[in-house]
Amino acid sequence: MTEKDFIPSDYQDLRENGSVTWKAPSNIALVKYWGKKGNQIPANPSLSFTLDTSATTTTLSFSKKEDSKDFSFEVKLDGEAKPDFAPKIQTFFERVETYLPFLKSYHFDIDTSNSFPHSSGIASSASGMAALSLCLLDLEWQFSDMDVDHFDKKASFLARLGSGSACRSIKGCMVQWGSHKSMKESTDFFGVPYPYPVDAVFNTFQDTILLVHKGQKQVSSTVGHGLMHGHPFATQRFEQAHQHLDDLAPVLKAGDLDAFIAIVEREALTLHAMMMSSSPYFLLMKPGTLQIIEKIWAYRTEKRVPVCFTLDAGANVHMLYPEKCKVEVLQFIQDELVAHCENGQYICDQVGTGAVKIS
Ligand code: PMV
Repeated sequence: MTEKDFIPSDYQDLRENGSVTWKAPSNIALVKYWGKKGNQIPANPSLSFTLDTSATTTTLSFSKKEDSKDFSFEVKLDGEAKPDFAPKIQTFFERVETYLPFLKSYHFDIDTSNSFPHSSGIASSASGMAALSLCLLDLEWQFSDMDVDHFDKKASFLARLGSGSACRSIKGCMVQWGSHKSMKESTDFFGVPYPYPVDAVFNTFQDTILLVHKGQKQVSSTVGHGLMHGHPFATQRFEQAHQHLDDLAPVLKAGDLDAFIAIVEREALTLHAMMMSSSPYFLLMKPGTLQIIEKIWAYRTEKRVPVCFTLDAGANVHMLYPEKCKVEVLQFIQDELVAHCENGQYICDQVGTGAVKIS
């Protein structure tokens, strides 16, 4: 498929007004996307677990307006006006207008809320952009023909234009985004559900997110991606991501947890190694991040429990482990790791099945 396939042909009559609500989950990458080209095209393919409880719910209320000169919208978070969200949404609307040509015909009220605490250091851009894309596409669906498969692909395509990793927040349980020679379905334009056999243990995986640092990040993802241009290790890193996807296929099929852990942790540390060797260099891990990682390693060696960590672009630690180890891992967190979490906070999540329509 090409970008042109997402440009709609003629519409029947536009709806006058109404509202639609979607809930979209966050996701955590196993193989990381870091570096992009052109219009939100990833420099390498990535693979993620879709999460379950960490999600954004967005209600889009729409009413047709007289003129269609400009975009018109207001955004609220938990019922409170959020004018500071407007520039990001304006940019998103500009990027997707070709694919949603009705945008300037409506005034939109965008009412959004996150299941995770505000400023928890968990990025809401993936779940937020996925939920908004689903609402807008649902509106298009009300006056145009589209089958479910096209709907899912286009929702992911639109979400990608809002925030790259958001394209992995439409479907579950594992989503791959970015062209990879071994997977014919893969594309840079949208995420696709992982099409190969996966051992049942991975469908039970838990993600306990330890909130090490809840403040604003010093360097945004956008800036970080940009620093991969001219990065001395960029070529090798992008090749490594391709290789890791090849390596993961038999590991996921066999349920080989030791091999899974080795790839996932190498990915997390490589992501941060890229940040630490960018020009200018930067560091998003905090002392608590490293203390937690060392304790996870010691615990795993001593107790032989298959728990590992991964990181996104921040200091928080995602602990990944099979459900059958939940009681003991949560005990370990209570006993040894909460001390490194800001206000002792952590979030219990698990692998999920993707976004859902609420109304
Ligand atoms: O989607 P963005 O632009 O916020 O970038 C996300 C980058 C990472 O979270 C670090 C990795 C990933 O693949 O999700």
